[in-house]
Amino acid sequence: MSTNFLEIRSLQLRHTGLWIIWSDGHSEEYSYSWLRQNCHCEQCYNSSTGQRRAALADDDLKQQPKSAFIADNKLTVNIHWDIRHLGRYPVEQLSAYKKPPNNYYQYAKQEMLLTIPFQDYIFDDQSRWRLLQGLNQHGIVLLTDVPTQEDTIRQVAARIAPIQRTIYGEVYDVCVEDKPINIAYTDEELPLHMDLIYYESPPGLQLLHCLRFNETVTGGLSTFLDAFKVAEQFQRTDPDAFSTLCRLPGCFQKIHRDREQPVNIIYQRPHIVTNCYQEIIGVNWSPPFEGPVRLKSDDLADYYQAYDKFAGCMANGFNAYGYEFRLKPGDLVIFNNRRFVHGRQKIGNIISKTDRWLQGCYISIDDFVNQFRLAHQQYAEHEPIYHFANQNYFEQ
Ligand SMILES: [Fe+2]
Ligand SMILES: [Zn+2]
Repeated sequence: MSTNFLEIRSLQLRHTGLWIIWSDGHSEEYSYSWLRQNCHCEQCYNSSTGQRRAALADDDLKQQPKSAFIADNKLTVNIHWDIRHLGRYPVEQLSAYKKPPNNYYQYAKQEMLLTIPFQDYIFDDQSRWRLLQGLNQHGIVLLTDVPTQEDTIRQVAARIAPIQRTIYGEVYDVCVEDKPINIAYTDEELPLHMDLIYYESPPGLQLLHCLRFNETVTGGLSTFLDAFKVAEQFQRTDPDAFSTLCRLPGCFQKIHRDREQPVNIIYQRPHIVTNCYQEIIGVNWSPPFEGPVRLKSDDLADYYQAYDKFAGCMANGFNAYGYEFRLKPGDLVIFNNRRFVHGRQKIGNIISKTDRWLQGCYISIDDFVNQFRLAHQQYAEHEPIYHFANQNYFEQ
């Protein structure tokens, strides 16, 4: 048993729940239904797989305990539920009983982009942790001095998690193409958007590695905006329009048959998702990849009005929550595609296709969360975890 946990000082069976007074003096009430549901006795819980054995019936959850006592050097509570069932609750398990955190998402844009040199990131585990932490906290990190050889991005991705394959393959080239399969592969301005938001689970991290960016090329600056911060502001300033965009779905699509591997994907979901306490847990924003919405005419009017207001907030929020910079060869930007919208200025003066050449790839949000949480446990167990923007209700 880990010694990081407090000891139990005393117990009290109350009508509403079990009161525990902890060794640091603070006390907490644990509801009986929660305790019944989260029992760690061998009958309820398989300790070798870490899985619950069976679903509970309604009657089980209404059970009141007969008695409770402290065991295992003050590190376990035992509860007599009935004659055949001695419940077991190690403090480690009790520590999972938490009230949802308030304002778990309160942090401002950092003035400077967090930058980490490639060599440190590849060879030093602490630097890798700093990168993962930066991605969780700020949503965007820049690696510098990355070798400008093709496919180096694979080595960078592999140090986080496997690449997520999409309709653009594993690693894709972003150049100005003659026959583009995506607006990103033209010289046009690319408005702020999230990638592949027409997937049921859009990619979490996006990596973009700048291999070449000739000085003669004009424009082409990269833009990034924290869509969660914008949505928070929208919720404060226009709660009605905000709730309209939580309620009515937009339409996200990629329909492109005239392509080596034809694509026909449509996904309809609201632009903003909140949890049971009206905290923002998801933003879906991708104007270049939107299709016709399917709504009744009254709703349609409300939808367009709210959409227009949110689009205005995105544009106005750039000064406070956005970044704009020109990638240099050897720069590799990593950002959370579920939290940030990104775009690019119009590109001028391209003579050959590789005058501006980026390579990109994705990592699934689940793989990132997994690696983040493993590293968090190792390096910073007591530091807060910020929202991953993946529609998880609570992060702590
Ligand atoms: Fe994109
Ligand atoms: Zn049990």
